Amino acid sequence: MSSDFEPILMRNVGVAKAADLQVYEARGGYQGIRKALQMSPEELIDEVKKANLRGRGGAGFPAGMKWSFLPKERKVTYLCVNADESEPPTFNNRVLMESDPHQLLEGIMIAGYATRATVAYIYMRGEFTEPFHILQRALNQAYAAGYFGKKILGSDFSMECYIHRGAGAYVCGEETGLIESLEGKRGWPRIKPPFPAVAGLFAKPTVVNNVETLCCLPHIVLRGAAWFTAIGPQGSFGPKLFCVSGPVNRPGCFEESMNITVKDLIYGSKFAQGMIGNKAVKGVFPGGLSMGVLTGDELEMRMDFDSPRKFGLLGLGTAALVVFNEDTDIRDVLLNVTRFYAMESCGQCTQCREGTGWMYKIAQRISLGAGRREDLDILVETTRNMGMMPGLSICGLPDGAAFPIRTLVEKFRAEFEQHIVRQEPGKVERVLRVLN
Ligand SMILES: Cc1cc2nc3c(=O)[nH]c(=O)nc-3n(C[C@H](O)[C@H](O)[C@H](O)COP(=O)(O)O)c2cc1C
Ligand code: SF4
Repeated sequence: MSSDFEPILMRNVGVAKAADLQVYEARGGYQGIRKALQMSPEELIDEVKKANLRGRGGAGFPAGMKWSFLPKERKVTYLCVNADESEPPTFNNRVLMESDPHQLLEGIMIAGYATRATVAYIYMRGEFTEPFHILQRALNQAYAAGYFGKKILGSDFSMECYIHRGAGAYVCGEETGLIESLEGKRGWPRIKPPFPAVAGLFAKPTVVNNVETLCCLPHIVLRGAAWFTAIGPQGSFGPKLFCVSGPVNRPGCFEESMNITVKDLIYGSKFAQGMIGNKAVKGVFPGGLSMGVLTGDELEMRMDFDSPRKFGLLGLGTAALVVFNEDTDIRDVLLNVTRFYAMESCGQCTQCREGTGWMYKIAQRISLGAGRREDLDILVETTRNMGMMPGLSICGLPDGAAFPIRTLVEKFRAEFEQHIVRQEPGKVERVLRVLN
């Protein structure tokens, strides 16, 4: 694909000292918040609605609509910035925070003004040591320049901003797990309703938005909704970051419109530049792990919010691709995936706790050369009986476990069966005796 796309969110990547306030301002930074403060919060929300900015954290929920769910009469509003970035193999938030922290801070100010938030908390995963220090330094600079605190830029708008570091749990990226953790408790997701917009942090109206979602705001404010909706396909507007990892020639984080396909991202000269050693692609998880897997024959999928469903996937997710090649044993992929969710289930809901655990046990057996044909059916059946979608769990973690496991078994079934057929006679019984 040839594209004349110019980086927007990553325009300062590679610029010397881009994390410094002076450099950010010299390159047009903090003009978005100045313009936003000339508008009313309602006008700002309308503009973001017109832009149809959909959340980049995984679910693709429209940001402007989410903000409108806040009760009209309210004294306190909190903004939680989801910088937990816990989805494997996702690192676009890290790139944004490390390379252009003021862009995020400006986005936070704009969202805070639109939602009348008095305090913003940036919830950052504990492992992010370097991004934390970079962002904290930028926040100190922003405070010193009057961008946070009382009467921002001489307006009536006041907002404080704090960075809170998590302790590294996948489920703390789920918005209510995040809120619990922020309150100092174990990061256990909450039953909804009430939704955070009504009763979130400290039981007050709360908005939770992802880092990349917020980074879009200064550009929408400055250039307008019509500019934003001119980028990308219908319903999937604006710039998007795509992470590519696995055995590719140039792993990294790339920015494009959502017109791009998986194939372009893997093979394009501006992107990952093909597979190491020209190996064939066996499969790709295109939306983080939790959206499901594509085979090497499905690389034409467009990376927008709607196309993944046509390929049996849950959605676009975090748009982070992890590729595996023809040499990969599909049983190892299943083992890795099942282990992750079994380890990360918080254990509150029986179906999620037990379901993810059973699937990991089955995957271990298959991987030890002791799988049974019926195990493949049991895996698929388990994935259908544990998530939010059948109404059996508090949060979406088990749905995110179901899609990769189900699509792996369904799309690579012939290969799993071949391994099972070739197993040593008597191995199943021996392994079962040991495991049980
Ligand atoms: C298990 C689980 C983990 C999640 N992890 C993250 C995460 O690390 N970062 C994130 O922004 N959203 C994550 N989400 C989605 C959040 O719950 C929420 O939808 C998102 O932060 C909203 O922001 P957005 O509307 O700007 O996308 C996760 C959801 C689930 C179910
Ligand atoms: S669905 Fe799983 S991760 Fe989510 S609250 Fe229930 S047990 Fe915890």
